[in-house]
Amino acid sequence: MFFKKISINVESVSINGIKVVVFDDYDSLSRAVCDRVIDRINAKPDLVLSLPTGGTPFELYCLLIESYKQGLVSFSQVRFFQLDEYLGLSKDDPNSYYYYLNRYLFDHVDIRRENIFSFNGLTDDPDKESILYENQLTRMGPLDLVVLGIGTNGHVAFNEPGSYPFCRTRQIRLEESTIQANLRFFSNGSPMPHSALTMGLGNILEAKEVFLLANGSGKAEAIIKTLHGPNTESVPASFLQRHPNTTFFLDRESGLFVS
Ligand code: GLP
Repeated sequence: MFFKKISINVESVSINGIKVVVFDDYDSLSRAVCDRVIDRINAKPDLVLSLPTGGTPFELYCLLIESYKQGLVSFSQVRFFQLDEYLGLSKDDPNSYYYYLNRYLFDHVDIRRENIFSFNGLTDDPDKESILYENQLTRMGPLDLVVLGIGTNGHVAFNEPGSYPFCRTRQIRLEESTIQANLRFFSNGSPMPHSALTMGLGNILEAKEVFLLANGSGKAEAIIKTLHGPNTESVPASFLQRHPNTTFFLDRESGLFVS
C-alpha cells in the first residue's frame, strides 16, 4: 500500500506559555504528532526521546510504524528513556510498560535495544534504581523531546498530585483514581501494582521540547486546570506552563473549554 505523508498544519494559540493546537478528531491529532516526531528524529537522528504509554498514543504508534516501513524515519540512532514503570512487574509481564512499548512500537521499528534505557520494575531497591536511571540520563541528556499523555488527575508520567518541579526520578505511590483508570489495561486478572517508578517533573521540565496529547471529554477538566489554573502540585501538569517549548495536541473534546 502506498503511504503518503500528509502534513497537517493547524494554527496554535498560546495559553500561559503553552502552545495549544485543537484538532477536529483523534486521527488528525495523531497524524500531526507523528509528523512532528518524525521531523525531530530526521533533524537529529540520535534524538534523546521519551514516549508515553496508555490508550492515547495508540494511533501515533501505528503511524510511526507505518512511516518507518515507508522509509520516512529510522530509529536506529534514537536513544530512548522510559517515562515510568510499575513496581513489581517484570519486563516480560504483558502489563508492564516496557512490554507495552515493545508491543506497540519497538518490536516493529529499527531501534537498537542498547539504546533503550528502561526501569527494572522488579528492583528491590527503588532508590538505587532511580539513581541508576538519573545517572544514565545525565550522561545522555538532556532529553530532546518528551511526549506525554495526561491522567484525569493531571498527572504526567506517574508524577501524581503532590509532585513538584524539583522532583527527580523516584518511586511513587499511585492515586486511587489512577489505579481505577489504568485497571482497564490489566485484562488477565493480575493484581495492579500500587506503586511505580517515574521520571520526575524536574527531568521533564529540563527537556528541550515537550508534547502533550489528550483526547476525549474525560480529559477536558485536567486540560483546563493545566492550562488556565495556577501552577500547583495538585495538578502536576500545570507546571508545564513554566516550560519554554511545550505544545499540547488536543482533540475537540479534550479541548472543549480551551478559549
Ligand atoms: C498512565 C501513564 C501516563 C499516561 C496516562 C494516561 O497513568 N503513566 O504516562 O499519560 O496513563 O493514559 P491514557 O492515555 O490511557 O488516558
